[in-house]
Amino acid sequence: MDKIRIRGGRPLSGEIIIGGAKNAGLPLMAAGLLTDERLVLTNVPQLEDIKTMALLLAQHGIAVDRPTNDGRTLSLGGAIGNTEAPYDIVRKMRASILVLGPLVARMGQARVSLPGGCAIGARPVDLHLKGLEAMGATITLDAGYVTASAPKGLHGATIVQPFPSVGATENLMMAACLANGQTVIANAAREPEIIDLAHCLIAMGARIQGVGTDRLTIDGVASLHGATHPIVADRIETGTYAIAAAITGGSVHLRGGRLDHLGAVAARMHEAGVDLIEQDGGLTVRRLNGLHGADVMTEPYPGFPTDMQAQFMVLMSVAEGASMLTETIFENRFMHVPELNRMGARINVHGASAIVRGVPSLSGAPVMATDLRASVSLVLAGLVAKGETVVNRVYHLDRGYEAVEQKLAACGADIERVS
Ligand code: UD1
Repeated sequence: MDKIRIRGGRPLSGEIIIGGAKNAGLPLMAAGLLTDERLVLTNVPQLEDIKTMALLLAQHGIAVDRPTNDGRTLSLGGAIGNTEAPYDIVRKMRASILVLGPLVARMGQARVSLPGGCAIGARPVDLHLKGLEAMGATITLDAGYVTASAPKGLHGATIVQPFPSVGATENLMMAACLANGQTVIANAAREPEIIDLAHCLIAMGARIQGVGTDRLTIDGVASLHGATHPIVADRIETGTYAIAAAITGGSVHLRGGRLDHLGAVAARMHEAGVDLIEQDGGLTVRRLNGLHGADVMTEPYPGFPTDMQAQFMVLMSVAEGASMLTETIFENRFMHVPELNRMGARINVHGASAIVRGVPSLSGAPVMATDLRASVSLVLAGLVAKGETVVNRVYHLDRGYEAVEQKLAACGADIERVS
């Protein structure tokens, strides 16, 4: 199993190209189920999760082609021959649940394995199911599978989400595109990835209003057609490398990175003493003087993203003063804390909050990754730690970060992948 070895202490300098967002690419691929024409996605990141979604679509009968040599374009199309998403694929990636809405909307039925809990918490899908039920689907659960059936098609409905769930908003927005009549999703999530999905659906002929707000109005159409859509830049990859630049005291240009999509991350980084300037088709990040503690609470967009909490914690662990990081989205997302403490950080967890007392330096250690963002936080810690850090279980990283060691090494980090 691969590991990543880092010898810390080198300031990063240079340029990193930001790829397309994983969390936009996965729902966009699921949208390929909504039409029998070709959906062509460009700026596709090369990630394990994208491969898993391609596998899932292929077993539904969709031909997944890569027409360009660089593999950054995906062309999806073909007739759906199978409406079942099996446990063996779904268990690898929770985003598989995003095929449920498109399948039932287009085919009148779907059987999808329930994703179950995962390392960062219970992560239920009840909001997805309630929304589809409101649109006329009959939902049954058996043997770990959810079956949704709407033989006469879905109909429009008004759905008020108790919480702006990203996944449920995506699933229901896609389903509503082919429903009979008008659907309103109130308290909808409005992450940049949802806006990206909405733009693609509109290019496919969907009628969606309120894009970018918390109230989406979707007038169903009889069918959608093909389109070509570039995937939006990954704001979490942008934020992660911004922290890499800041924590090492370097200066890095993040080509393609967007300040307007960083939301509260940019504000908290400014507060901590980091400069982010939009220029030359991207974002230049550098540390001003010392780093200072800053408090963070994870919230739905445009609040501070849960997917940046672990990385920001590493920044705070070497900042002057104390900071409090509160996790409101997932109940078990501090698994990086014991590993960071083994590297010399001073972090205490009290319920949903972590108190971080900044230390002058971290020291390298062998560490174990537990989930995607926790893994990358350990890489960041390794970049600033004295001595050698070895991050084990790198497969978590490969799910969501493309060529992380090459991108960092090109900016001067002493980092390598070892088999
Ligand atoms: C979440 C993040 C998203 C991130 C993704 C991957 C938020 C709001 N969402 O999206 O930014 O990219 O993880 O890490 O930050 N919930 C229910 N019932 C449901 C669906 C959700 O109770 O049917 C709860 C979840 O348990 C969780 C919260 O709502 O506490 C957020 O869920 P949701 O936004 O749906 O999660 P993801 O779509 O996985």
